[in-house]
Amino acid sequence: MRSHLLNHPSTTQSKAIGIMDSGVGGLSVLQHIHALLPHENLIYFADSQHAPYGNKTPAHIQERVDSIASFLLSQQIKALVIACNTATAASAKYLREQYSLPIIAMEPAVKPASLATKNGIVGVLATVGTLQSAQFAALLATYGRDIQVITQGCIGLVECIERGELHTAKTKALLTQYCSQLLKAGADTIVLGCTHYPFVRDVIQNIVGEDVTVVDTGAAVAKHLHSTIQSQDLIKPLKTSANITILTNNDAANTEHVIHQLWGKNNITIKRV
Ligand code: DGL
Repeated sequence: MRSHLLNHPSTTQSKAIGIMDSGVGGLSVLQHIHALLPHENLIYFADSQHAPYGNKTPAHIQERVDSIASFLLSQQIKALVIACNTATAASAKYLREQYSLPIIAMEPAVKPASLATKNGIVGVLATVGTLQSAQFAALLATYGRDIQVITQGCIGLVECIERGELHTAKTKALLTQYCSQLLKAGADTIVLGCTHYPFVRDVIQNIVGEDVTVVDTGAAVAKHLHSTIQSQDLIKPLKTSANITILTNNDAANTEHVIHQLWGKNNITIKRV
């Protein structure tokens, strides 16, 4: 195991939290993290050049995530958040075996959905990679036993969101197509099982109607991160304002524009890597 966090406690506490995703989707998780931990320095890696992960092999994704984790560790982080369901399914176990720092990962909100549903029918929108993973099968075996779960892989949706196309006719058509199977089956609760999808939550809610509950995991991941760094005495001691750095390997001309569009504020520094 590669060891970290060998410094004096206060030096370690002042380090940033690393967050990664296949692209800009994890910014939806970053928003929850910043809201809950407003003083923590955050360094986010968007692997947009390699997005989407959803159609890649687990071995390929694991290689990407390992290389990003290793890069973020070289930037002196104290904890790592895998803000991506697909990357979690392919690599969280491996990363935890490799690195000694706290690693927070995520999975589609099937458990909260199983508690929220009234008619026992839950729909899950996610990447094909997530839906085909052993982790998702295990999740269903644990929390999906007493409910009916309908899954829908959303091919092409991440690409639209990466381009900042949230309300275009194409994005709406894809979402209408993907939600229709879930609605036909009678789902009263829909899980956003990919961190890109909260950015089109309003479009989804519009399609499925206000009576359908739409759930995602961003807030729960932020809470889990908070309790983890608190229990390991890793909270930043000084309540100074946070530095939020977004690293991206996207070479598209509108990269900064899309990141600002999704983040919605000016308190970030964007660097191309
Ligand atoms: N944002 C990612 C997730 O939560 C993956 C999107 C992709 O690259 O396919 O699953």
